Amino acid sequence: MAAEQSKAKGPDLAQGVPLSDVAGGGMIGGHVGDDAVLLVRRGDELFAIGATCSHYGGPLAEGLIVGDTVRCPWHHACFSLRTGEAIAAPAFNAMPRFRIENRDGKAFVREKIEETARPPGRLDRNRLRRKAAASSSSAAARQALAQRRCFAARDLRAA
Ligand code: FES
Repeated sequence: MAAEQSKAKGPDLAQGVPLSDVAGGGMIGGHVGDDAVLLVRRGDELFAIGATCSHYGGPLAEGLIVGDTVRCPWHHACFSLRTGEAIAAPAFNAMPRFRIENRDGKAFVREKIEETARPPGRLDRNRLRRKAAASSSSAAARQALAQRRCFAARDLRAA
């Protein structure tokens, strides 16, 4: 499903988008090469992250901007526009970020930012803990896993 959603649609953001097209909290879905990209403007700040939700491929360009986050329209995962981090379930994997060049009244979305130095976010850490718990066969580990699933569901309801 995610592969179907990731087909490049919309304008080529590498060619530049007039800032007036993303005025005041606006967003636009487009592509850079084969990557679907979401460009968002919040005041004077511009953000560009992947536009295909890392959960089941929801179109983030049809989502909701809340502060410096975007919520997926399908199951309401929440991603940071600043870091790409998945900050609310059900998505666990971060979205890629893209470099933006702001020139001559236009925003040009450039290459993907390498994230090798990014520390794991809150949900990434939880996923790592669940993996560790799942690899153990002890009853305590299974119980810890069940508790963490409840916490993840609670996070989603609170979002
Ligand atoms: S597809 Fe985005 S939260 Fe499920």
